[in-house]
Amino acid sequence: MQTIRLLSELRASLAALRAQGDDIALVPTMGALHAGHMALVAEAKLAAKRVVVSIFVNPKQFGANEDLSRYPRKELADARMLSDAGVDVLWMPPVEEVYPAGFATNVSVSGVSEGLDGAARPGHFDGVATVVAKLFNQVRPDVALFGEKDFQQLAVIRRMVADLDFGIDIRGVPTQRDDDGLALSSRNAYLVAENRSSAVALPRALGVAAATIEKGGDAVAALSTARDTLIAAGFEVDYVELVDAETLAEPVPGRPGRLLAAARIAGTRLIDNVAVKYG
Ligand code: PAJ
Repeated sequence: MQTIRLLSELRASLAALRAQGDDIALVPTMGALHAGHMALVAEAKLAAKRVVVSIFVNPKQFGANEDLSRYPRKELADARMLSDAGVDVLWMPPVEEVYPAGFATNVSVSGVSEGLDGAARPGHFDGVATVVAKLFNQVRPDVALFGEKDFQQLAVIRRMVADLDFGIDIRGVPTQRDDDGLALSSRNAYLVAENRSSAVALPRALGVAAATIEKGGDAVAALSTARDTLIAAGFEVDYVELVDAETLAEPVPGRPGRLLAAARIAGTRLIDNVAVKYG
């Protein structure tokens, strides 16, 4: 595996691969890798001859009061995992390589990025869309893989790729979970044992609400019960919402729905979502 930190070197290295006729899959990450990220890498290996993984903790997608400075960084362990998984290129640029002095462009996707996490974290999806657009132009992959764990992010990227004609095949990968059901996340590392055991209330509450709605139960009541369950488990709830799985707008009976939640336990913000057959 080549570890590359300069854009000029990345371009030269990928040009050589492309000249051999190899296609390229990209897995963008912020590092502190876990089995969720590695599921994306495994899919990437199946999707293209060459796999590029980026690790870049993107300052533009963190709000002023968020965890940018304490976001976990594990370069050596990450590089080892990626190399063992057969990744070809680890793209790990420093901040000034991505945002040099004078950087002034913002990519903003309206509609899908406005509710849910977009409302709870103003500017977050502009930061995501801007850095992912840059990563796409830097790597120019044929395929790029994103986790359903960040369901709204996946919808924002799909919209951006369609609107800006990136011509990249965007694939979603199902959420990887711990044995008790908690979605794997780099932020789970913040949880002390007591909070970690309470955190399982998040996937459980979503599972119960989804089952109730699928059985024809009242959706508003099911969402309210989920909120109460989370509060009882010690969470502060940002949102629990049922939306249309594609537009992330009002759910439409007969179309695939998605139940999404974001909640904070002892200052750690967790998100999760599940599919719901609605109506
Ligand atoms: P990060 O949180 O590191 O996640 C990188 C990718 O891994 C995302 O596509 C995310 O959805 C996926 N992922 C994380 N946990 C997962 C899980 N438990 N199961 C399946 N996939 C999972 O998301 C970001 O970084 C950033 O916003 C990024 C897209 C890299 C832009 O900066």
